[in-house]
Amino acid sequence: MARLTAGIGTSHVPAIGAAVDHGNTQTDYWKPLFDGYEPARKWVTENKPDVAIIVYNDHASAFSLELISTFVIGVAPKFKPADEGYGPRKVPDVEGHPELAWHIAQSLILDEFDMTIANELPVDHGLTVPLSITCGQPEAWPMKVIPLAVNVVQYPQPTGNRCYNLGKAIRKAVDSFDEDLNVVIYGTGGMSHQLQGERAGLVNPEFDNAFLDDLTANVPRLLNIGHTEYLRESGSEGIELIMWLIMRGALGDDAKEVYRHYHVPASNSGAGIIVLED
Ligand code: DHB
Ligand code: FE
Repeated sequence: MARLTAGIGTSHVPAIGAAVDHGNTQTDYWKPLFDGYEPARKWVTENKPDVAIIVYNDHASAFSLELISTFVIGVAPKFKPADEGYGPRKVPDVEGHPELAWHIAQSLILDEFDMTIANELPVDHGLTVPLSITCGQPEAWPMKVIPLAVNVVQYPQPTGNRCYNLGKAIRKAVDSFDEDLNVVIYGTGGMSHQLQGERAGLVNPEFDNAFLDDLTANVPRLLNIGHTEYLRESGSEGIELIMWLIMRGALGDDAKEVYRHYHVPASNSGAGIIVLED
């Protein structure tokens, strides 16, 4: 059977991808962040996941306000890097796992989560930057990927609690897939950041570190953070953190933290990474 063995939470700041792509990871600005990523990358290399479910949000690359889906699952055999305005990143195409993706889609929909199914889905920095952070610059990504996109851009976004319950349903789906696969799940985005308006540049390390602590110490507190609290405490884009709760919901109650790193600033964000083993 497939096993969901671990979760990774990580920011997906586009400038981090640009630092990798342009060979700037060892500059004074970026080195402390990339040094902090090293143990997580080593963990991925050693643990050899077959498939990663990457929970991310599209930033008006594949979707626009013409069509707003709350939860989207990508079932294609391949996903191309999206053109985000500067041409697509020169990273490998992302290979999907259609059989597992369709199995998860079926299981989630029969469990009453109304997924949108994507047969074509160009993937932007929300998905490719976490791959760069945890896999470096390989010729081909070392695992297959099932993209799971969440609307965190346009109100009304789903609640954190709904996201957590979706994670639980994903776990049930993976556990019932009849093939021996090592599956990990990524929750991406955040941490605190605000890209526009009067409070542009807002970062809240205290909020971010408490969020990292409570992924193991007090998950119920995180499930009760509402949209207004995210806005107030973590800026207008901090709500991306609800995607980490999908990752957390897919893991058992007593998941164990094996690594974390937090660094400010990375572009406009508090940049965190955490590895949790089931
Ligand atoms: C930044 C962070 C994001 O998550 C994003 O999607 C875009 C920009 C930033 O910090 O610059
Ligand atoms: Fe983002």
